[in-house]
Amino acid sequence: MSLSCETHVAQAFSEAFGPEPSGVWSAPGRVNLIGEHTDYNEGLCLPIALPQRTYAAVALRTDRRLRLRSLQSPTQYEIDLEDIRPGNPSGWGGYAAGVLWALQDAGHQVRGLDLMLDGHVPLGAGLSSSAALECAVAAAVSDLMDLHLLGDDSARAGLAAICVNAENTIAQAPTGGMDQSAALRCQAGHGLLLDCRDGSVEQVPFDLSADGLALLVMDTRAEHQLVDVQYAQRRASCEDASQQLGLASLREVAFNDLDQALDRLSGNRIRARARHVVTEIERVRQMVALLRAGRLPDVGSLLNASHASMRDDFEISCTELDVAVEAATTHGALGARMTGGGFGGSAIALVPADSSAKVTSAVMDAFSDKGFATPNCFAVTAEAPARRDS
Ligand code: GLA
Repeated sequence: MSLSCETHVAQAFSEAFGPEPSGVWSAPGRVNLIGEHTDYNEGLCLPIALPQRTYAAVALRTDRRLRLRSLQSPTQYEIDLEDIRPGNPSGWGGYAAGVLWALQDAGHQVRGLDLMLDGHVPLGAGLSSSAALECAVAAAVSDLMDLHLLGDDSARAGLAAICVNAENTIAQAPTGGMDQSAALRCQAGHGLLLDCRDGSVEQVPFDLSADGLALLVMDTRAEHQLVDVQYAQRRASCEDASQQLGLASLREVAFNDLDQALDRLSGNRIRARARHVVTEIERVRQMVALLRAGRLPDVGSLLNASHASMRDDFEISCTELDVAVEAATTHGALGARMTGGGFGGSAIALVPADSSAKVTSAVMDAFSDKGFATPNCFAVTAEAPARRDS
């Protein structure tokens, strides 16, 4: 009989550190259904929490030392809380240690801990394994140190902001905050409509099985160079556009006023970037309206339009993602799009459940024809947020 994930990581903790952990906590990866590169523009997005989770077995220490281990990495970290700073530690340790730093930065008293991680969110697939790691650690620390940040949604919103600070400041990744909100605030069977202007959320029903549908993740296994630089450049272009318009963010451009706003921007490239953001926010609204009306099978064209916008206007797709989307949509998917930051990682396809195998083999064949690495295709559902497991 195979061990549960909780038991497995708890045993690994005991083998590494001696005693048993105080408990096991976990947090999910995410896919964003629609609303890409909108979070740092104070826009809307609609992620779901994945079944794939990162597990953290943790025990508090009496001193201020952190000992960090992972079943996915030979790198081990030992560091005092006082030595955590931007860029230190580097690598995955920065995401875990960064959470302790950010909790202190938010005024919480924290102590050292021993930590063993077991990550089941595919790495480098654009499915937010780093946010899952941060949020599993944050959930553990909140419980063990009685910080009460895992309670209602407003407490969880505060914890998400702390994890974003960890990622932005210590891991030095200028990401926008959607991923941590997804890991902490999504609910099973729902997409999370996240308004990044005021941090408010609404739970939107997302029940694939009721409509005989499946959501396929197609991890292209493509990792392109300069992803971080490209992400920062897109962010800077959006800030430039909102500055030129004299607005706080591109969220302030009403969809109906888009053409006038574009006329006031200088340069075709910046116009295209702004067009993506404003049209993408509108697509989120339209998708939410369809989901609320029980019309999930009708969202396919929005997914396709979102992909085209990211490919042509925001220029964050790549050949592998385009091939996956094209193969899926020509072999029975209702719609497909890349998801996450782009330049590699994963695409998603909404498919009739009985066509899943056909669409998967079409994508595999297309990759093989092009000489690409074999993609990792799997079906996902909307699952639970960060929690204590044992
Ligand atoms: C990455 C970032 C998020 C978001 C997406 C694009 O996943 O971490 O904050 O910007 O890209 O939507």
